[in-house]
Amino acid sequence: MLTGLDNIHVLADLEGLARAVAERVIELARHNIEATGRFSIALAGGGTPRHLYTLLASAEFRGLTDWNRWQVFFGDERCVAPDHADSNYRMARETLLDHVPIPAEQIHPMVYDPSAPQEAAAAYEARLYRHVDRENDMPVLDLVLLGLGHDGHTASLFPETDILDVRDRLVAAVHVEKLQSWRISMTYPLLDHARHICFMVAGENKQRVIRDLHDGRRDPLYPVERLSPQGTVEWFLDELAMGDLR
Ligand code: 6PG
Repeated sequence: MLTGLDNIHVLADLEGLARAVAERVIELARHNIEATGRFSIALAGGGTPRHLYTLLASAEFRGLTDWNRWQVFFGDERCVAPDHADSNYRMARETLLDHVPIPAEQIHPMVYDPSAPQEAAAAYEARLYRHVDRENDMPVLDLVLLGLGHDGHTASLFPETDILDVRDRLVAAVHVEKLQSWRISMTYPLLDHARHICFMVAGENKQRVIRDLHDGRRDPLYPVERLSPQGTVEWFLDELAMGDLR
């Protein structure tokens, strides 16, 4: 269980948050490429990471890593076509992936056919087994970037959905009633085994969930609290999300 908030970095604003995470991503990429020749990362969706991806693709950061060694995955995806305005893949492609020389076969969108969510989830699990180094037959991602919803969801692990109980699959499809839409998401077993997790949380509307996580008195637990990370976790927050907790 993810108890409390440890390893927190509070940045003045979204720009500062993006810069701090970009520096960590480059550092982790360098470390893993030196150690294994590869760097596997799961990108987060939503709005907060946009600035990070744009910064990583900028002249200031683009030259700081060997993109040829990257394997890019997604922590979750909306069940829409890859070119749909709501697609996390499209957002990452427009802000980062179209601007850096990662070989196309090393970029792994989650959804190709939005009409078949279960099949997309099963195909993605097979893709992870094929392209990610394993420990005890579990694919171990070097870095997972995660956002946090004001309801305590992360990736597409939303409250009161059946994906929260999935323990026998690494990726699953989930119908999110309150969004009236299907999502594909990495599940707890896979996320828990990541070597490193960076949470990125910005904005005043996250103050309540951050305070609750800090106090650790939630019942029922937020979905994010049901993570049991085996690796290291860092929280990158802006001052708005931190509120008066400082
Ligand atoms: C998505 C994300 C989702 C997101 C949170 C926070 O597909 O929307 O994976 O989990 O990270 O909803 O979103 P913001 O960072 O935009 O607040």
